[in-house]
Amino acid sequence: MIKICFVCLGNICRSPMAEYIMKKKLKDLNLENEYHIVSRATSYEEQGNDIYPPAKRKLTEANIPFSNHTATRLEKDDYDKYDCFICMEQRNITNTLRIFESDPSNKIFTLLDKDIADPWYTGNFDDTYNDLDYGLDNLIKELEKK
Ligand code: 4NP
Repeated sequence: MIKICFVCLGNICRSPMAEYIMKKKLKDLNLENEYHIVSRATSYEEQGNDIYPPAKRKLTEANIPFSNHTATRLEKDDYDKYDCFICMEQRNITNTLRIFESDPSNKIFTLLDKDIADPWYTGNFDDTYNDLDYGLDNLIKELEKK
């Protein structure tokens, strides 16, 4: 079982979108039983909130199922619970490292080699979705090589 935690700032847009797109891709590949997928925030800004409605609309348009979501901030004891922490942008890496204090097992990565724009600020959920779709396909290819 590979345990993956997607990380963004608020856990209401990018990381839950990544979580549910990833779950759909894994299901389509019959790999859903081999992975455990969650998402978390680096801030308490949206703690307890559901996915942002425009992000839900984008997921629905793309036929990605999602369920009730509760935005949750990453905590120090999460480090040992997951195999990797896939961040949306460089700033998430900085903040994740601040929460964990160190990364002795090299578990913290960005999904792409560029920052994924925050649609909460840009309003552009299409670009975010396309970046996630591309990055997650590559992530699955990398994980399945191992
Ligand atoms: P996310 O977007 O990190 O993609 O979930 C954000 C949502 C809310 C806030 C920041 C980013 N906020 O500060 O409330």
